[in-house]
Formats: sequence, C-alpha cells, structure tokens
Amino acid sequence: MTKKSYSNSEISVIWKPDLCIHSTKCWKASLAIFNPKRRPWIDLSSGSTEEIIKIVDNCPSGALSYERNNKMSEQKAQPAQSQQSQTTVQVNKGGPYLVKGNFVFVGTDGKEETKEGSIALCRCGASNNKPFCDGTHRKISFDQG
Ligand code: FES
Repeated sequence: MTKKSYSNSEISVIWKPDLCIHSTKCWKASLAIFNPKRRPWIDLSSGSTEEIIKIVDNCPSGALSYERNNKMSEQKAQPAQSQQSQTTVQVNKGGPYLVKGNFVFVGTDGKEETKEGSIALCRCGASNNKPFCDGTHRKISFDQG
C-alpha cells in the first residue's frame, strides 16, 4: 500500500491514497494545509499542530493518520480517536460503510488486525482496493441510499 509522510517538528501526517474516499473534509477544513491542487498537497507549515490533528482525526476513511515525532509526547497527548470506547458503523449515503473506534479487522486470509481509528468499507462493490472504499462509488454514481 502506498504511503506518504509529511512532517513538521512535532508530528508526521501519513497519507494512504489507496484508502482515500475523497470525502473533502480535510481540504474544506483548511485549504492552506490540505490543498489537492498543490504539490505536495499537504503543507504542515500552514497550520498549528493542534489544528492538523483535529482535521486528521476527522478523516472518515483512515487515509490520513498521524504520529508524534517525539514518542514521549505521544504518551502525554493521546489522539482523540483512541479515547473512543464505542465502535460505530455508519452507512454513508451513496458511499461506504464508515467504521470508527477500536475493533478487530479479520481479512479474507483469516489474519486478525487490531485497529483504532477509522476505515471505510466498500458498499458498492466497485472498489479496486476491496474491502476498502477507494472512491470509485462516485464514478459509478452508486446510489443505494
Ligand atoms: S463504496 Fe466506495 S468504492 Fe465502493
């Protein structure tokens, strides 16, 4: 899986394009930090670390995540998503199932993976990255409520 990393002095934001569902939440929250028309499209110098973390925590697919550069400070400031005790599954109108919380993901090979945060599972059947949504539902005009 492709992964790109962008850093400031405090955190590194990791973007996994294969998981991106193009919800537009990141760039609508801050076009200065997340601008899909710019290369590189993420510029961490354009916002505070707290603002960046808030936006990344709001990514519904888990395509965006972050880690603290200094592991000691990570223990002091846990991301909001790790404090979530309940797992929610939301049916996204015309799009994927959005799973958020702490859960165990079991792949087709039976391999279990403990997850924390958000993932988007394909509901339309057209993703090229199954079982994850890759945004293809928009191209096929998937509209199953
Ligand atoms: S629901 Fe997004 S690609 Fe299928």
